[in-house]
Parts: sequence; C-alpha cells; structure tokens
Amino acid sequence: MTTAETAPPPPMRLRELVFGAACAAAVRAAARLGVADALTDRPTAVEDLAATVKTEPKPLRRLLRALSCYGVFAEQPDGTFTHTDMSRLLREDDPNSLRAIALWCTEPWTWDAWPKLDEAVRTGNNVVESLYGKEFFHYLNEDAPESADVFNRAMTRSSEQSAREVAALLDLSGASSVADLGGGQGHVVACLLDKYPTLRGSLLDLPRVVENALPRLREGGDLADRAEIVPGDVRASVPVEADVYVIKNILEWDDESTARLLGNVVKAGGKGTRVIVIENLVDDTPSMRFSTAMDLLLLLNVGGAKHTTESMVGRLTSAGLAVDDIRPVNPYLHAFECHVVG
Ligand SMILES: C[S@@+](CC[C@H](N)C(=O)[O-])C[C@H]1O[C@@H](n2cnc3c(N)ncnc32)[C@H](O)[C@@H]1O
Repeated sequence: MTTAETAPPPPMRLRELVFGAACAAAVRAAARLGVADALTDRPTAVEDLAATVKTEPKPLRRLLRALSCYGVFAEQPDGTFTHTDMSRLLREDDPNSLRAIALWCTEPWTWDAWPKLDEAVRTGNNVVESLYGKEFFHYLNEDAPESADVFNRAMTRSSEQSAREVAALLDLSGASSVADLGGGQGHVVACLLDKYPTLRGSLLDLPRVVENALPRLREGGDLADRAEIVPGDVRASVPVEADVYVIKNILEWDDESTARLLGNVVKAGGKGTRVIVIENLVDDTPSMRFSTAMDLLLLLNVGGAKHTTESMVGRLTSAGLAVDDIRPVNPYLHAFECHVVG
C-alpha cells in the first residue's frame, strides 16, 4: 500500500501528479460531507460514519482510503478510521481550521479554469473573463453567490488568524486614522481600533463584501462610532483621507489594477503619507508548493501573480512610494512599510 511517507519512483510519482485533481476533489468531498466533523477521537467504523454524514458506506470507504494515502484520515488494521493532524484541520470547529480554504481552492469555477492554464500561460491573461464574460470579483459577487460566501468565509478565517499579528506588528501610535483598502469584512481595522482606543478606521471594499462587514464595525457595534464603512471600487478611487493606508493581500491582481490602486492611494494620501502593503511572497515562504499553486490560480482568475520581494518593490516605487522597511508579519506574510514620495 502507498502511504504518505513513501517516496515513489519518478514514473509512479508523475502518475500520481496527473491525478492531482482526484486528490483535490477527495479533500473537497470530505469537507462538503462533513466527514472530519463527524469523526470523533475514537476509531469509527465506516458504516457508522456513513450513517452520520448520510452517504453510502462503500463509496465513503473508497473516499477515505484515497485520502488516507495522503495522510488525511488513517485506516486502522481493523478497518476503522481515525483522525490525523491533517484531517483534524478539515473540522469546522478546529481553531486552525482550513475547511473554508479547502473549499475555496476547489470551488466549481476552479474546475472550469484549470483546463485553460495553457491558454493563460500562452497569453499571460486571465481566463475567467472569456469563461464568464466578466471580471472575476464581479462574476463571484453577481453570479456565484455560494462561491462568494465560501470566499468570504475563507478570507474571514485567514484574516482572523493574521489580523491580530498585523495589529501587533504595526505601530500606529502617531496616527489618528487608518484606512484598510480591500479590507474584506474588517478584521484588521477592528484589531487596530482595539489596540488604539482613539484611532478612527475606514474599511473600503466592494459593496457586497462590506454588506457583511463585522457587526462590531456596523451601526450598533461597539466600534461603530470610530469606524466608517465605504463601499466602492478602489481601482476607480480611494475616497477616504487617512494618516495610514493598509493594503493587505490585494496587490496580487493584474499590474494595471495594482498601478491604479496605488496611484489612487498616492492621490488620496499626499506627500509623506504612510502606506503599508502586506503580501505573501513567492521567494520568501516555507510553502513553495502552496504559494506557486496560488500564483497560478491568480493568473487564471484575475490575471495576477504572487510577488517576489523585488517585483513588489518595483510596483511600489514606480507608483511613487518609497519603501522604508520590509518585515515579516509571520512566516507567510511580509509587511512593506512605505511613504508617498510626493
Ligand atoms: C484576498 S482578499 C483580502 C482581504 C483582506 N484585505 C485580508 O487580507 O483579509 C481581496 C479583497 O479585495 C477585495 N476587492 C477585490 N477587488 C476590489 C475592488 N476593485 N475594490 C475594492 N475591493 C476589492 C475583495 O472583495 C476582497 O475582500
């Protein structure tokens, strides 16, 4: 039997690689069926699991056997299944849950887009516009509400996990206002307002996204009197004045959008304004396989890319920003501390 530990010879490994879709589909199926949530800490017979997650036992055994080969769940000698460190991460209630990320990376649109990777590599353009007739985030929010919800849940999860680290790293003691551009549901803004009790914060994102902003920032929330929620398109304009602008995990789209957003920030802030760009880098990461796969997915959906340190600095300086410092937020994220040159 092939286990997660063995390193197969090249012909076998390549055969396995070309079945990567089966692996991704199996993780997705387990996540959608809630298998990890149904499995407790006790070894469980597949018939019992099947009854809980409402599937046929025989195909569920086949699904779990396939996943066990990758170390997601483990099959015991008596045929029962147990959790592994990886399968626990598919539980909704795990503090480090990756369930939403697992669904996001395998949403239906990805299965439409991957077969067109050769086309994207040939042209350098995204394939979503030719598939769906509109830009990715418009497609997501207007035509694929379930995928949009999965995206928002995945972003919420990863934002919650990183927002506290971002707030801990940033020193905004001299500032009276901050604006988070493309700030999702506002986790970074909320953490910064918690850290600095007199700071005011603005959250800008697309209308359907800010509709679901954190209740703490909305009317009646405990931070509402210091928070402003601004629906809009940051490529069209940044209609907010602030002492500090935060741009986290946005500058991964096409270069023109990056140039437009940075140009709008320079215009809104003016000379000397602090701009903090936070990104995953493709040349400074402990997870090259994940980052390079995400880089290709960004090519497919928004014609974008994960940046290297050099390509990020290049985009920032050509937009009129000076990069003062580059610091890790955590092993996966880096903060580029900049100011507008003027
Ligand atoms: C990868 S998420 C990052 C969210 C958040 N900054 C974080 O780090 O958790 C990208 C965000 O950009 C937003 N976005 C995409 N296009 C936008 C646009 N044209 N104007 C404003 N926000 C946009 C998306 O809605 C989404 O919330």
